[in-house]
Amino acid sequence: MPRVVVFDEFGGPEVMHVVEEPVVEPAAGEVRVRLEAFAVNPLDQMMRAGTMPAALPHARLGVEGTGVVDALGPEVTGLEIGDPVILTAVPDATVRGSYAEYTTVPASRLVARPTALGVTEAAAVWVAFSTAFGALVEKARMRPGDTVLVTAASGSVGRAAMQVANQLGAVPIAVTRDAEKKDDLLAAGAAAVVATDRDDVVDAVRHHTAGVGVDIVLDLVMGPGQQDLVKAARPGGTLVAAGFLDPRPTPFPMGTPLTIFGYRSFEHTLDAEVVRRMAAFLNAGVRLGAVRPAVDQVFTLDEVVEAHRHLEKGVHAGKIVVTV
Ligand SMILES: NC(=O)c1ccc[n+]([C@@H]2O[C@H](COP(=O)([O-])OP(=O)(O)OC[C@H]3O[C@@H](n4cnc5c(N)ncnc54)[C@H](OP(=O)(O)O)[C@@H]3O)[C@@H](O)[C@H]2O)c1
Repeated sequence: MPRVVVFDEFGGPEVMHVVEEPVVEPAAGEVRVRLEAFAVNPLDQMMRAGTMPAALPHARLGVEGTGVVDALGPEVTGLEIGDPVILTAVPDATVRGSYAEYTTVPASRLVARPTALGVTEAAAVWVAFSTAFGALVEKARMRPGDTVLVTAASGSVGRAAMQVANQLGAVPIAVTRDAEKKDDLLAAGAAAVVATDRDDVVDAVRHHTAGVGVDIVLDLVMGPGQQDLVKAARPGGTLVAAGFLDPRPTPFPMGTPLTIFGYRSFEHTLDAEVVRRMAAFLNAGVRLGAVRPAVDQVFTLDEVVEAHRHLEKGVHAGKIVVTV
């Protein structure tokens, strides 16, 4: 029988285990996907640990993945059995999660897999890319020539944000806590790198923007460090807060008059028209070589506990992928 990852209590990676379950027949408008790979996200870790709790017992995980169409429910059009697809959103991940050999999702939650992407890259692309595109293009209305300060730039969303900015002709400035990552971030598309263990963020940004400040801040970290990002933005600029890697409280952003957004990608990945724009931009980016999903390490389904342990070490650069 097909295998699926479940957990019945909150805790460390070891609460997850692999069980066998029969496949589910797709209802009207749904598609069953035979998964080939899925990616591990910080959200999965929070759902498993109980900081953003999943619904117990028998909770599933996984908001993204790639595979092939295995069965079509009634009234599904435009897809054929065997089509390679990417899952664009699994908002009910505790029921339908992608940590499995099969999952069943509404047909509207699938896009065609770009042929130039391998399976592990395709598993790694969507959450990072769609979050970056949604936050920068849909929310902040990023334009060619805009300067964009990206925190946690060595993470998967940060790398995708730099690629989206470059594809559009904007200028990404990467923020990292570690000056040793500078060369890696320049190779990943940063126009300049600010390392908080070495640089004063405000001074460094002023230096790289001829004293003006950045047009857009994409903050994937939050916490007290956001105060400096606000000072590094130009008056009238935009701050999009989309991540929360620093668990410390975030003071209300004062000091520079900005337009401020909080961002959750489900706002866009459940909107068919935005998903159509995202898929078109993704396909163009893959064709041009501008979108290159960063894969850190690949595990097997039997190693899913190890995959979460690796995430929790925090040493990864890019996405952790599990092949099925
Ligand atoms: N809003 C949404 O819809 C949405 C969607 C996806 C992800 N997210 C969130 O976005 C954030 C980034 O996700 P991701 O998948 O890119 O994460 P990731 O790949 O795990 O990011 C890892 C990088 O973040 C930096 N980092 C980690 N902890 C940090 C800390 N306490 N302070 C500062 N930097 C830290 C580190 O870079 P350095 O060592 O170089 O500093 C690390 O290499 C997460 O909070 C995630 O939950 C939000």
